[in-house]
Amino acid sequence: MKETSERKQKVLQILYETEADYVSGEELSNKLDVSRTTIWKYIQSLREQGYLIDSSSRLGYSLVKAPDILSPEEIKKDLETEILGQEVIYYEKVESTNKIAIAEAKEGAVEGAIVIAGEQTAGKGRLGRSFFCPPGGIWFSVILRPNLRPDFVAQLNFIGVIALAKTIDKLTDLKPGIKWPNDILVNGRKVSGILTELSAEVDQINYLVMGIGINLNIDLDQFPADLVNKASSVQRELGERVSKLEFFLSLITELELAYFKFQEQGFISIIEDWKEYNLTLGQEVQVDNGREVLVGKAVDIDSTGALLIKLADGRVKKVVAGDVTLEKEYT
Ligand code: BTN
Repeated sequence: MKETSERKQKVLQILYETEADYVSGEELSNKLDVSRTTIWKYIQSLREQGYLIDSSSRLGYSLVKAPDILSPEEIKKDLETEILGQEVIYYEKVESTNKIAIAEAKEGAVEGAIVIAGEQTAGKGRLGRSFFCPPGGIWFSVILRPNLRPDFVAQLNFIGVIALAKTIDKLTDLKPGIKWPNDILVNGRKVSGILTELSAEVDQINYLVMGIGINLNIDLDQFPADLVNKASSVQRELGERVSKLEFFLSLITELELAYFKFQEQGFISIIEDWKEYNLTLGQEVQVDNGREVLVGKAVDIDSTGALLIKLADGRVKKVVAGDVTLEKEYT
């Protein structure tokens, strides 16, 4: 199976190298050491993925247009990371990439392996909620195996949201802001979310699956009524589509940089990056931690990644998980 996908990738690579020219079926079959019928099957499979490939019995094959999809072939062509994306598994439509990545991690998938889907039918959100994941967005999960105690996993969560903010900042004119712990807001509306799931012993993480969802090229009329005022997409805020591939490659690169920085220089160094996009600290907030709703001023992030809230009576409460509503959202 892996061999087939590697050969298909090689066919694509040759088509890209040939540019506007044609490469004959014979040349492809010689280079890959497979029959011309097998080459034809790879070409058909690429066409099914959306590649426009011209064929002529005299000249062979020529790539006319590539689709904007996050297939392993497209990603590996341009990815320059060291560990993230070493292995890429792509599905057109799945229930949840986190669910598949957890199964892959249990089976021993390497650190950095990524599961991507074109669409999710049962996307998982934080705190047991569901997450809306239609075509047009980017939905993926990364498997990490950090040498870290499980009580510090909240710290690692921050690398995802930092990478997202930096990517939006770099590729668009939009001003992304981070609402603790890891929602990206653009013009007050949520455009992405992160769900990290974990398997651990008492003092060591076995694996961690960081699931990232981005509302990239999604039209307003695709959102269900209850999300229209809270959520948005990059396309809607920007007024134009953004290349999925370009966005994903930038995001993965930023994610790896933040992961390495976290491992080499510690949490304090990445929290500085987080604060550059902060929308929470210094604000009056309401925080629902599942047991009670706290109202106060968000004053800091502690060394584990928890949010510190100063209540009206002066006490400072620590919030490990919960939903933050900014004052401007509830007044
Ligand atoms: C949230 O904001 O509630 C977190 C949403 C996380 C969604 C992503 S999409 C890819 C990955 N697979 C899932 O099922 N969920 C995460």
